[in-house]
Order: sequence, then structure tokens, then C-alpha cells
Amino acid sequence: MIKPMVMTKESPFTPAMMESMKKLEATREARLQTEPRRMTADEKRALLDEYHPDYGDKGFAKIEIGPNAGEKAPKELTALLHSKSRISGLDLDLDKVDFETDVLIIGGGGSGAAAAIEAKVAGSDVLIVTKLRMGDSNSMMAEGGIQASDKDNDSPMQHYLDAMGGGHYYNKPELVRRLVMDGAKSLEWLEGLGVMFDKHPDGSMQTFPGGGLSRKRLHACADYTGAEITRVLRDQVHNMGIEIVDYTAAVELLLDKEGNAAGAVLYNMLTGEYLIARAKTVVMATGGAGRMHYHGFPTTNHYGATADGLVMAYRAGCNLLYQDTIQYHPTGTAYPIQLFGALVTEKVRAVGAQLINTNGEAFVHPLETRDVAASAIIRETSTHGLGVDIPNGRGVWLDTPMIDIINGDGKIATALPGMLRMFMNYGIDMRKTPVLVYPSFHYQNGGIEVNAEAATEKIPNLFVAGEAIGGIHGRNRLLGNSMLDVIVFGRLAGQSAAACAKNVKVGAPTLSHVKEYESQIESAKLEDTGEASPILLPKYARDVNVGKLK
Ligand code: FUM
Repeated sequence: MIKPMVMTKESPFTPAMMESMKKLEATREARLQTEPRRMTADEKRALLDEYHPDYGDKGFAKIEIGPNAGEKAPKELTALLHSKSRISGLDLDLDKVDFETDVLIIGGGGSGAAAAIEAKVAGSDVLIVTKLRMGDSNSMMAEGGIQASDKDNDSPMQHYLDAMGGGHYYNKPELVRRLVMDGAKSLEWLEGLGVMFDKHPDGSMQTFPGGGLSRKRLHACADYTGAEITRVLRDQVHNMGIEIVDYTAAVELLLDKEGNAAGAVLYNMLTGEYLIARAKTVVMATGGAGRMHYHGFPTTNHYGATADGLVMAYRAGCNLLYQDTIQYHPTGTAYPIQLFGALVTEKVRAVGAQLINTNGEAFVHPLETRDVAASAIIRETSTHGLGVDIPNGRGVWLDTPMIDIINGDGKIATALPGMLRMFMNYGIDMRKTPVLVYPSFHYQNGGIEVNAEAATEKIPNLFVAGEAIGGIHGRNRLLGNSMLDVIVFGRLAGQSAAACAKNVKVGAPTLSHVKEYESQIESAKLEDTGEASPILLPKYARDVNVGKLK
């Protein structure tokens, strides 16, 4: 039950918030002179151990069946993996083929689009199926930017070290190598397609700092980088005449008798009809899981982020990697309640805003890595009791007026127009007053294990792209490395899938792996979750009239 809060007539903030804001304003001058200190490695470790949800057992459950049996996962993900298939008990005619293609791409976000473009360039027949509309994805909602080491003072090696350090050295080295080596050429590719990055008057790229970055390496299109990149990729997909089937989710992979990927069972979200797509190769580009709200967190993610790809690939026999690690973006919006969980880009801190507690103290360096910054906010609002009351809990301040003080008036309006507008819609002018934030589920660090060609080694002819991959970012991703992996591994998956398709003759499709998996559920005597997975849309969508989704 959300507590009603009294707001003054003149301000969108409550009197208690206004009192706290005065304390913040009183310390601003001094804070402008001295940055908060960086934590030592031991301090960070202790903070993570005590406050980051990944480091405890609460909210996790053991996976009992399948390749990762014995490992932990957020209990909501474990429940999906322990659930029956959506097609359980249905008598589907696999010989009635509705779509036939060389490369089937599941997911219409940035990585699916990049994969489709490259597969088409390589001469493949390509089909994209997407459960919402082409472009509806976390890629579209990305704000801060994309990393690439294209400056003289930087190098792929420097980028590699930063990404590995951010991921606590759990990253798969061959994937990080690929990510950083392809950074600069990914920017060139995007620019060639029409992405308009922010530039200096001399035409050189503007770059920004970020948490865990040893160089200014973040390239941006104001604070709507993902929308700009996805706009261009989507246009290119249309321009190339690539076939797209909207509102059509994949619900199970099809495998041939040898266990190779051979297509997917699709579900029309509008009519409730099941369809069969046969393909020589499949690219899983299904994105993340924010709408699963692990550990009860709000999310920055789009509506379709429900871990579908992980479920389908796992049932088919793929390994998951770091499925127990989640990124809580330190600055989800805490107030107003209508924006609860919405992303306040890290770029806000990159250009000068500090995180401040209710007493006006800067309690953490604004550019610690995300896992550390989020843990510090959780500590401040819990054990330390120094959060600011919001209708449904506590948040901390993000002192946004510092940005224009440090960089000159107009910086917020030019660098952060989306943020400015988002808060302005609720009467909050972030140029004049700070905003309230709290961590929000932003990214699944883990996902399906792949090799350096974006191929799953367990299931031949199955490739993965984007957030569905596990291992690139270790146990904590740095900002801007997701948009880069969307491009690098999206393109790579498309190229690999197209090359592989040249030598594939599709065998008769089967669903025997689904039956086998269900017999494992029965043998393990798992509690019936009453759910079928993948769930496709968040639980709260069920009350909304979105076709016949059961
Ligand atoms: O803060 C942000 O703008 C998010 C960027 C990212 O997740 O890479």
C-alpha cells in the first residue's frame, strides 16, 4: 500500500523533501570544491557483500534440472526454468510449415536488427519475428551511450582492462576481446548507416566519462542514444526488404533429430495461433528480463523483457552463465511515483551530478561502478537511515543543478533533453532542483553461453546476440558496453548464422527436447508453478486486453 504524501501547492515536493533539499543546497558549494573519495577495493567488496542482492541468498532458488542444475538463480527465473512449456499438451503439426527461411532471428531490438542486416548482406534469406513491434526493446530505451576506444589516449587494451575490472574478472576473455577490438569499427558502421553522434565543432566525436572507465570513452546522441541507433537499424532493415513478423513471439526452439536448431514454434500474440517457422540457423536476440522484477525491484526495461530466450535455449540444452547476476542501475527514478524505476542515465553523473543523502552529504563517488553505487544507495536508505522518504520507500538525491554550475548554463538542456523533459512533465525542473533516485533492475549480466563466434556450442546452428548472451560483462557490466555488444555481437551472430546456413540442410523438426525436459520436471518432483513459460509479457499485462495471451 503506497502512503499518500502531502505536497505543497507551490512545489511537486513534500515539505519533508524540501527540508532535506535545503540541507543539500547548504553543502553544494563545498561539494563543488571537493569530489567524494573513491573506495578501496576492500571497502567495495565489503559493501557488495552486505548490500548487493547478488551477494546474498535471499530471493534466489536452486535450479534443479537442466545444464545448470545445482546453481542458483533469482527465484523468478528458477520458476520459469521449472515450469512446463506453453505448448505442453498441444498437438502441433510440425509438417505444416508457416515460414521457411535461412536465418530466423528471434527478437526485433538492436541486436536482432544488426544480425538481420549482416545475414542479409551475406546473401541469406532472413526472417525476423518479434513479439511486439520491430524496435520495441531495451536498445530503443538506452540513454547514456556506446563505448568505443577511438581516441588517441585510448586503446582496445585499455577498454578491455576496464570491462574486465568492472565485471570482477569473471568475463569470458575471448568475448571481451571481440567486444573491444570491434569498438571503433562499430561506430564507423553506425555512422555509415546514418547515426548522428554528438560531435565537437571540428567534427571529432564528443566522449564522456563513466563508472569504471579509465578514459572518456562514451559516445552519445544526447540522452537518447539507443533510440537514435535503433531508428537507423530499423530503417536499414526496412530498406533492405528484410521480412518482419510483428506481434509474433517464439515460444520453443525446434531441433532436428541430431539436435541441431531447425526453427521455432511461434505464437501470434493477437490471435493466439501457433505457427511453425523452419530455418537453417536461428539467432536468439530476445533481450533481458527486467519485467521479471527480481528481488522486487522496479525496472528501467521495456515491456517485453521477460527472459524468453533464456527459457527456450535452456530447455533445448544450452548452458547459462552468471544467471545469478543482475545489474541494478543506481539511478532509477524514485519520485514521482508515476516514473518509479524509469532510467536516469549515468550520463547525469558523468557530467557532474552527485549522489546525496538526506543530510546533504555526498556518500559515494558518483562514478563508482554500478554495482558499488547501487549498494551504497541501498546502504544509505536502509542501515544508515539517511534516505529521503518517498511514497513507497526511500530514495536519495541526485544533485542535478551541479551540472549547469560545473559545465555552464544550458548543458542539461543540450546533453540531457530527455531527462529534462521527463521530470518537467511532473513539474520538476532538474536544472533548479535535485531529483530523487533509487536502484532499478536494468540488465541481466548473465545469459546464454556462447563462443567467440556468438554460437552456442551445445546446440549447433543456434547463435545468440545482445543481452541474451552471458559472459561478455562478467558479473557487472559498465555503461555503454551494452549498446556496443548489441552491435558487435548482433553483427557477428548474423554473419556466423549466415555462413553456417550455407552448409545446412534442415532436417525434420522435432520437439522431443521439450518432452524430455518435462519428464525431468516430473522426475525431480518439482512443485507445479501453475505457470507455463516463457511468459512473454509481465504478469500485470494479463489483465490488459492484449489478444488471447493465456
Ligand atoms: O545510464 C545509462 O544511460 C545506461 C547505459 C547503459 O546501461 O549502458
